[in-house]
Amino acid sequence: MNAPVLDHSADGIEELDNPLPRWWLYLFYGTIIFAIYYAIQYPSTPYYKGTLGWTQEKQWASQAPPKKADPAALDLKALATKPEVLEAGKKVFISTCASCHGTNAEGKIGPCLTDSVWKYGSEDKEILLSIRKGRPKGMPAWDTFLKPDQVGAVATYVHSIGNTTATPANATGSGTPIPTNSPNPEGK
Ligand code: HEC
Repeated sequence: MNAPVLDHSADGIEELDNPLPRWWLYLFYGTIIFAIYYAIQYPSTPYYKGTLGWTQEKQWASQAPPKKADPAALDLKALATKPEVLEAGKKVFISTCASCHGTNAEGKIGPCLTDSVWKYGSEDKEILLSIRKGRPKGMPAWDTFLKPDQVGAVATYVHSIGNTTATPANATGSGTPIPTNSPNPEGK
């Protein structure tokens, strides 16, 4: 180290005129170049939009988690085109619904679900409501017991088997009425 000594001293302490380390200098230049690049590409000042057209909104739109489908407004016909949904729905039906509606939904305590008789309607939202919120004469609400996708799947299954057979004798089931002081007497 034979760096020249600067011609000033403080209380006998002298300062050497060493050059800045190369790595430090290049890093420093690098940050300057990056800053210029960044200021040009991105909205760096209040009225400048940047050449990339970057905005928070676009960034959010590209990263936002997909919106969960509204469980009350599923398109059962469209869902029925997915075999895995029907398959999952059938599984839920066998394990959860068959005890009352019959393995083939032919009707037991609960009504037959394959005929064209629908007390509460066979529209997508009506079937979903029957399953999610229950119906007064003995149909439990499944909202809290099944996951939303299970409800969607079993509704899709019920929709797909509906209106496919002739109306049997026990079309409306023989459900025991539940008390009118039930939290959900109208099934709504
Ligand atoms: C504890 C017995 C029971 C179970 C379990 C049950 N249900 Fe029901 N379900 C009924 C009864 C009884 C009715 C008729 C209610 C009424 O008339 O008010 C009914 C009605 C329905 C209806 C309306 C039918 C119409 O004519 O509008 C649908 C749809 C339905 N159930 C689907 C299901 C699905 C899907 C499951 C499984 C997640 C299920 N049910 C589980 C007893 C049951």
